[in-house]
Amino acid sequence: MKNLTPAPKNRTSVIRGSGMYVPPQVVTNTMMSRIMDTSDDWIVPRTGIRERRFVPRGVGSAEIGAEAARAALVDAGLQADDIDFIVFATMTPDQYFPGNGGLLAGRLGLKTTHALDIRMQCAGFLSGLQTADAFIRSGMYDRVLLVGAEVHSGLMPWPEPVWDFMLGTSPGPCDPEWYAKATSLRDRAVLFGDGAGAFVLEANESGDGRGLLSFAMYTDGAHWDKLYVPGVGCKYRPYVTHEMVERLDFVPIVEGRHVFRLAAHLMPAAVREVLAAHGKTIGDLDLLLMHQANLRINEAAQKALGLPDEKVFNNIEKYGNTTAATLPMAFHEAKQAGRIERGDLVGFTALGAGLHWGAGLVVV
Ligand code: ACO
Repeated sequence: MKNLTPAPKNRTSVIRGSGMYVPPQVVTNTMMSRIMDTSDDWIVPRTGIRERRFVPRGVGSAEIGAEAARAALVDAGLQADDIDFIVFATMTPDQYFPGNGGLLAGRLGLKTTHALDIRMQCAGFLSGLQTADAFIRSGMYDRVLLVGAEVHSGLMPWPEPVWDFMLGTSPGPCDPEWYAKATSLRDRAVLFGDGAGAFVLEANESGDGRGLLSFAMYTDGAHWDKLYVPGVGCKYRPYVTHEMVERLDFVPIVEGRHVFRLAAHLMPAAVREVLAAHGKTIGDLDLLLMHQANLRINEAAQKALGLPDEKVFNNIEKYGNTTAATLPMAFHEAKQAGRIERGDLVGFTALGAGLHWGAGLVVV
C-alpha cells in the first residue's frame, strides 16, 4: 500500500523511459490547400510547419496514447503492471467523460492502477511532469506512467468526403461551401497535428544528482478567451445544441498574435527562473525543449535566452503543434538523435490555453 509510505529524503524522479507514436498518415501543407485557401508558401515562413500527421477515422487519443505508453515501457524495460500511477494529459479526449486515464489503463490491461486526467492544453505534459514528480518525491508512488496524446483532427469540422479529397483518396472536387468554411478556420487548422508521447518516471534515491530538479509553473485566467472553445459545455443547457454545431462553436478560437507575444516572452522568463532557483545559468543547459506551437515563437525565445542552435531541438516541421504530446515527442526524438545523454541538464518549457505556462529542469 504505497499511499502510506513516508517520504524518504533525497528522493528524486528520473525519466527511466520515453516513447512516442504518430499515425502514419502524413498531411502536407499542399494537401491542406486542396480544401482551403492556404499554401506551403504561407505556412512555412510564418510557422515552420511543413506537414503533420492525422489519425484514421475512429482512432482516438487513448489509443495512440497507449501506443506511446507501450513504447515508453519497452524503453524503460518494464511491464505495465510495474506502474503504480498513471497521469494522462490531453485536450482532445475520446469523449466528454470518463477521461483518457482510465481508458489507457484498460488498454494496458491494468485493473486497479489509479489514473489521473489532466487538461491544461499545451502546458498539459509539463503540469503532468510536475504532478508525477510530486507524487514520486512524496513517497506515494515509485513509478508513474505519464502520457500526453492528442487527436486534433477531431476538432476539424469538415465531413468525410472533404477529408477524403484532402487525403487524395477521392477525386473531388471539394464542396465549395466547405472550402469557404475551412478557409475561415485556416489560421488554426494548419497549426495542429495528431500524436502521442510518454515517459516512465521512477524514484531515484541513489544520490547521483539525476532527476527532475524543480518547476516554475503559472496560470493567468485573464487570458482564457485568447485561446478557447466557445461552445459545448455545461454552462449551457443542454451542453450542446444544433445552433452551436451550425456555428462551429466546437472549433477552438485562437487570437494568434496575442498568444505568440505571450509565449515568446513568458517561456524564456520561466526558463531563467527555474535555472536561477538552482544557481544555474543558461550556459549550464545542455538542451532546451520548448513547446512547438510556432517555430517563430521558439526562435524568438531562443534569441531572448541567447541559446546557440545546438542547445535547442525543434520538430514542429514534421508534426505541427501536438499540444500535450509535444514535449515527450521532442524529448524522445532528441534522445534517439543522440542529442540527450545521461547526466545532461535539460530544460522544458511550454505555454498553453488557460493561460498556463512554465518551465522545468531535469538531470537526465
Ligand atoms: N493560409 C493563408 N493565409 C492565412 C492563413 C493560412 N493558413 N492563416 C491566416 N491567413 C491570413 C489571414 O486571413 C490574414 O489575411 P487578411 O490580412 O487578408 O485578413 C493574414 O493571413 C494574417 O492573419 P493573422 O492571423 O494575423 O496571421 P499571423 O501573422 O498572426 O499568423 C499564426 C497566424 C500563425 C496563427 C500566428 O499568430 C501564431 O502562430 N500564433 C501562435 C500560435 C498559437 O496561438 N497556437 C495555439 C497555441 S496551442 C494551445 O495552447 C492549445
